[in-house]
Parts: sequence; C-alpha cells; structure tokens
Amino acid sequence: MLKHLLLPLTLLIASCATAPVAETPAAATQQPGAVSSADPRATEAGLEILRRGGSAADAAMAVMLALTVVEPQSSGIGGGSFMLYHDAATGRLMSYDGRETAPAAAGPNRFLRADGTPMPFGEAVPGGLSVGVPGNIRLMALAHERHGRLPWAALFEPAIRLARDGFDVTARLSARIGGARLEQLRQSPESRAIYLTADGQPKPAGSRITNPRLAALLQGIAGTGADAFYRGPAAERLRAAVANAPANPATITAEDLANYRVRERAPVCGTYRTYRICGMGPPSSGGIAVYTILKQLERFDMPGMGRDNPLSWHLIAESMRLAYADRSRWVGDPDFAQVPTAGLTSDAYIASRSALIRLDRAMPSVAPGTPPGATRVAALEAAPDGGTSHFSVVDRFGNAASITSTIEAGFGSGLVVDGYVLNNEMTDFSFVPERDGLPVPNRIEPGKRPLSSMSPTIVYDAQGRVVLVIGAAGGPTIIAQVAKALVGVLDWGMPVNEALALPQVIGMGNRVQLEPGTRVADMAPVLRSLGHQEVVTNPFESQGASILKLNAVQLTPAGWLPAADPRSEGTGARE
Ligand code: DON
Repeated sequence: MLKHLLLPLTLLIASCATAPVAETPAAATQQPGAVSSADPRATEAGLEILRRGGSAADAAMAVMLALTVVEPQSSGIGGGSFMLYHDAATGRLMSYDGRETAPAAAGPNRFLRADGTPMPFGEAVPGGLSVGVPGNIRLMALAHERHGRLPWAALFEPAIRLARDGFDVTARLSARIGGARLEQLRQSPESRAIYLTADGQPKPAGSRITNPRLAALLQGIAGTGADAFYRGPAAERLRAAVANAPANPATITAEDLANYRVRERAPVCGTYRTYRICGMGPPSSGGIAVYTILKQLERFDMPGMGRDNPLSWHLIAESMRLAYADRSRWVGDPDFAQVPTAGLTSDAYIASRSALIRLDRAMPSVAPGTPPGATRVAALEAAPDGGTSHFSVVDRFGNAASITSTIEAGFGSGLVVDGYVLNNEMTDFSFVPERDGLPVPNRIEPGKRPLSSMSPTIVYDAQGRVVLVIGAAGGPTIIAQVAKALVGVLDWGMPVNEALALPQVIGMGNRVQLEPGTRVADMAPVLRSLGHQEVVTNPFESQGASILKLNAVQLTPAGWLPAADPRSEGTGARE
C-alpha cells in the first residue's frame, strides 16, 4: 500500500524534477494516458474514451470493439483475449483469461479422420468445427465491472459509429479478404455484402465498408449488456451459423454460450536484472516463454555486448530455442492438465537451461527439459497469418492494460454472423490426442481452452512503477517479437519505438530465422561459424503483409511514449 501511495510522487520526480512534490495532489501527478493499437481508428477510439475520463480498461475495451469493425481479419467479439491489468488503486496486477472454450460436443478426436490420422490443418480451419465459444464480450463485461469508470454503453460509441458510418479499407484488410478465407467470404450473402465488390472481388484499399448488422448488434449489447451476445437471438444466430456452415458444420449449444466464464489467472512474474517482468500464464505459453528467454540471458553481458554484436543475437536465438522447446511440450489449459509453471520459471531450472548456452558455440540440438512438477507431453500449434491484435493502454490514473486479442487465423473460421467474424481457435488445440501412449496436455476436451502464444506483458522497474506495456501478434513468433523488444528496451536502453523496429531473429528447433534486408541478415556467416545448422532468412510475411506487429507504451522522463511496429499499420498516440 505504501508503495502505491508513493507511486505518483515517483512519477512526478521522473517527469519534472523541480516540481513542488508535496503540494501536488496525487491525481494531478499522473501523466496523460496513451494508446497503441494495430489500427489508427482503433487507437483513436481508445483516446476518445481516455479523454472522456475513462480508465485504461474502458479505453482498451473500446479499442477491442473498434478493431472488431476496422481490423476484422485479426480479432474481435467473435474471438478471445488475454488481459493483464495493473490496477493503480490497489497496486495489484490482475490477469484475465477470456480465451475461447471448446464446446461440450468437442472431444479429443475432433480433428481426426476416420482412419485416425489428423486432418490437414487447412481443412480443419474453415467452417464450424474450428469455432470455439467466444470470450471477448464476457471479458469486456468483467473488465468494466472491476475497472471501469465510464458507463458501459459509452465504450461502444466509437465502434458503433465506425460500423454504421463506414470506414476506409486498408491495404492489409484488402489483402486478407483475398486470402485463405476468400471462398468462405464469397459463400455467405452477409460476408459478401460487407467485404466483396459486386463481382465478388476483395474490396480494394481505399474503398468504403459499412457494417450495419454489426452496428445493430453492438447497439443491443450496449443497451442490455453481455447477455445480448451470449443468450437470445444473437446467440441463436451464432449457433445456427456454426451448425449450417457449408464446411465442417458443428455443434455449439445455447448452454455452451450461456455458460462461458472468464477465468482469473495468476500472472507469471519474475525479476530480470533490476526489472520485474509479468506475463500471461497458462493456457498461454507466452508469459513463461518470454520470461525464460530473458532470464536465461541474464548471466550474459547483454548490455555491454550491444545490438551490433552477432554474439548478442546468437545468445538470443539460443535462449529462444530452449524456451520454444519447453513451451511446446509442457503447456496446456491448467484446468485440465498439470502445467509445471512454477518449475519452468524457477531460478534453479532456468539456471540449468541457461547453462546449456555457450557464447562460442551453438547447441547441436535442443530438447525440452524436465522442470520440477512435469508429467506429460504436447505439440505445437499452427503457423501465424494475421489473425491477432495486441493493444497497450495507460491512463492518467496510473492504470495499465496489456491485451492480446485474436480470432486465430486471418478471418478466423471464415464464418461471419451479425457482421463479426467467428474465430477458428479450436485449431490451436493439438489435433493428436496422445503420443507414445501419453495424453497430450493440449488435446481437445469439452470446456477446455487451447494453448496460446499470446504474450501481453507489463514490466515494472525497481521502484514498482509500470515502465513498459507491450505485446504482439503473429502466432508462435509473438514470443520472439516480445522478447526481442524487451532486450532492446531493458538491456540496450532503447526507446520503445526503436526497440520495436529492431530486426527480428527467431531461434526454434535447429533453425535460426533472420529478417532479410536488416543488419542481422548480414550476421548469417558468423552465426553459421558458431555452428548454427540452419540459418535462413524469413521475411515474416503472409499475403504480402508483415506478420511482425508489436504494440507498446513506455514510460519515459517526458511521459508515456506509445509505439507501433513500423512494419504494421498500427499507431500509438497520447491523450
Ligand atoms: O493464441 C495464439 O497463440 C494464436 N491463436 C495466435 C494467432 C496469431 O497470432 C495469428 N497471427 N497473427
């Protein structure tokens, strides 16, 4: 509590060393808020709510709704989210799991063919089988109940305006309409009307989209609350869309929808040098993996070596290889599988993993370790292709929201109902229920939540101040993107906008992927000479757009600095 009371004073000292601290009322010592999101219209929606006196939770939920309209390919009310929230009033960090759940009808064999072999991923995604029960509107209701300051209906206003009055199609949205789900979008008159031209082509960049059905649904939820989504006619339309899907029709019952609950989870936190890094625990692997990548690097002089030294990137890649090996093996929904979170993040286990890293030579191979408390085995989820969005919001009251929201793949299941896109999150489960006679922790079970890589993160400094609110989209690459940016800010002292722009390196298995056209690509010969077996370039693109998409807000002496990945269409702005 004492720490919390002192917080405003420390902020003031950081921003304005000569101000008369004792005479300044606590509220006035806070900085104006800031928002970073994947789309300028969504960023503006968040700022509008902040300007009206809303909290970071209020503004973040307005961003989530606006993204449903303007970035429908990536996230929205047909999907789910993980939310980290620093509550200034209590000084507590909360983490909320609004992840989609498997319907009651979903069992371990959902994605197995008659002969017992797994369906090809691309066959499982379109239509009803891949749809999990959406979590975002229940998450919004809980976030508002616990942390809201403005009336519920106010949070809907920017999104309703965008859906009703229309918005311009971005280059990325146009490309994603023409992507893997184009045929599904063509099949339904509803999605055709929203996203396609009269002759069935993707609406081009710069053309206009209006979404009156979505405006009407949002108006209904704004008026009567979350039940307007989870019960009654809207729920029935969702059920029917899944049941009547042209591909893979499936069952989501009224009970599946009515019974959806947000889970409050323990955040995964640990110290890194002088900082405290906090992330999302299982069913996300993000918090564990991001933290262990950093912590395994702590014994090396990363700050001294700097970003132009190939050895820095060698070490980062090695640490990623170890963390990815563990996350794909041990993590699943903790309500169904025993996940050794404490073991994976313990100092002793991390020291044993870090000891495998050598400055002068790449590990010949990587395997998962055996953390204390470990019992089972698992599998990796699918490749990234544009179906996720992270947003970071801070308010003038000292609250901070770090939310990663998803419908899984670009345009999710391809099913559009009431103007929003239904997720394909069920394909984040392992298609194979057991291996070597052992159950896979991420196998499908009714009511279960699939493994995720989403890594909403909040970093505190030694004084307990929130100094960085960050996250990314891009499937399994999320973990590597966030880890890279953290090294940039925490070890290399970079302002967050420069840290997000740092080249991307990913070490996974025996492969090191380097972003072409950047200075790390020139380091390939050195990495090979260290023994890395497969050093390749990867533009990290899908359908002509980068999948690298970080969004962050950093505390600086001049106030909050919002930043978006320069490879994305994202923006950051202050109140
Ligand atoms: O939860 C997960 O890890 C995935 N569903 C995220 C997918 C994703 O980021 C898609 N690409 N941008």
